[in-house]
Amino acid sequence: MLTKLLKICCNSRQCTFAKPFDSMPGPRGPFGLGNLYNYMPGIGAYSWLQLHKAGQDKYEKYGGIVRETMVPGQDIVWIYDPKDIATLLNERHCPQRRSHLALAKYRKERPHLYKTTGLLPTNGPDWWRLRSQLQKELSAPQSVRSFVNEVDGVTKEFLKFLEQSAGDDTPVDMLPKLTRLNLELTCLLTFGARLKSFQPEEQHSHSRSTRLMHAAETTNSCVLPTDQGLQLWRFMETPSYRKLRHAQSYMESVALQLLDQNMEAGTVRSSLIGTYLQNPQLDGFDVVGTAADLLLAGIDTTSYASAFLLYHVARNPEVQERLYQEALKVLPHPEQSLSADCLRTEITYTRAVLKESLRLNPISIGVGRVLNQDTVLSGYFVPKGTTVVTQNMVACRQPQHFPDPLRFQPDRWLKQRNALNPYLVLPFGHGMRACIARRLAEQNMHVLLLRLLRNYELIWRGRTDVELDIVTLLINKPNAPVMIELRSRLASQN
Ligand code: HEM
Repeated sequence: MLTKLLKICCNSRQCTFAKPFDSMPGPRGPFGLGNLYNYMPGIGAYSWLQLHKAGQDKYEKYGGIVRETMVPGQDIVWIYDPKDIATLLNERHCPQRRSHLALAKYRKERPHLYKTTGLLPTNGPDWWRLRSQLQKELSAPQSVRSFVNEVDGVTKEFLKFLEQSAGDDTPVDMLPKLTRLNLELTCLLTFGARLKSFQPEEQHSHSRSTRLMHAAETTNSCVLPTDQGLQLWRFMETPSYRKLRHAQSYMESVALQLLDQNMEAGTVRSSLIGTYLQNPQLDGFDVVGTAADLLLAGIDTTSYASAFLLYHVARNPEVQERLYQEALKVLPHPEQSLSADCLRTEITYTRAVLKESLRLNPISIGVGRVLNQDTVLSGYFVPKGTTVVTQNMVACRQPQHFPDPLRFQPDRWLKQRNALNPYLVLPFGHGMRACIARRLAEQNMHVLLLRLLRNYELIWRGRTDVELDIVTLLINKPNAPVMIELRSRLASQN
């Protein structure tokens, strides 16, 4: 009877019988003054640049749910259990994230350009007003498929650009090249504009494309240091805030330039911004904010994810051979175009390879929410307003969830899919607030993988004694050059 009652009371997010929040295990720092000191370079055991290691350490010390006091009054609850992750991310009313706070300040100080702080930092009804209008074009399968030709065209150009660097026995650091590809794709799909970033004159350090790539990475790398801790930037211009301001100011100027070009061209071009400009529910301010958000969110995310993808493929020749066979099937001739239909129905193995790469190397350690209501997680009461962050990357590397968890095995997604918990591999987040461009990003990476594998054999030329690891710049960047030799398959076919 008691068990039945407990079950009824604890089925909802609230629970009368939950253990108190204060009893949740985790570091509170000396005298309860917070654990922030532990992230200070040269002093603490943790680093903002190695959040996955801090996450693994806390899991081993405290278990599947951890309350960490950063500074008094500012806690983060880290969750590793897929049941808790499901509870957190299935929030149905305007899920809130607490991130990009300094970016929000930057935008608030420019009311002549921004009406809201944009999709990334905004919460509540303002966020939903934007999101509900923007997602029709960015997320709907049909809309995403309509971009296949453009993506395929740019990817073919990218292969020509690689050809200039590729020669037998000459390894290429793939990450800077992939960043150019994703810069080009983001600008084309967002603004209908090309930056010509594969051209030799764009390769130098003060070209528009190079500066834009740096500005995006700089902004991302300033998000964690400004979101966490004492937030002194609210009162004075700290070095991190200054870097973010300069980088944003450059990105904004390019976004405005490209927006102007798009409007001069009559807005009929098939670009996201072209469509948004014609949407009566969105005004000019919304469109400027969205343009800036897409530039920021689109470049490094897909580049880092693609770099890890190529790393895993290059290190696993059997996987590579199966991918090549699939690429041959959809591209019997390397010059022919990829169709949306074949991407939908004929690339099962390619999809499994991407999924497995994102399991081992997601570009964020997990996703965060600020609780909209009191909630019970792992039997503990967690009050409304608490920041809770999922630890998917650490959870995805545990043997109780994935047999032989550190092995790259795309077959898991073909043979054991139904046995795998759907709340573990969530590289794009989950629920109403998940990545708005998930399908687009996946499609871009599928096209890249098929085209690249159709033309090249990839050979890993980076270190083989240690795994490629990550450095967290808000998103997880490879911690070393992604050195790959590209051996042409076309020559051997002639
Ligand atoms: C491999 C590529 C990508 C990955 C892994 C990724 C991952 C993510 C994740 C984890 C989130 C947070 C989700 C959550 O809180 O539940 C997110 C949000 C977002 N992403 Fe992506 N992303 C990728 C590519 C892109 C691209 C290409 C764009 C745009 C061109 C983009 C635009 C956004 C935006 C605007 C948000 C905020 C959505 C909101 O708050 O409503 N992402 N992404």
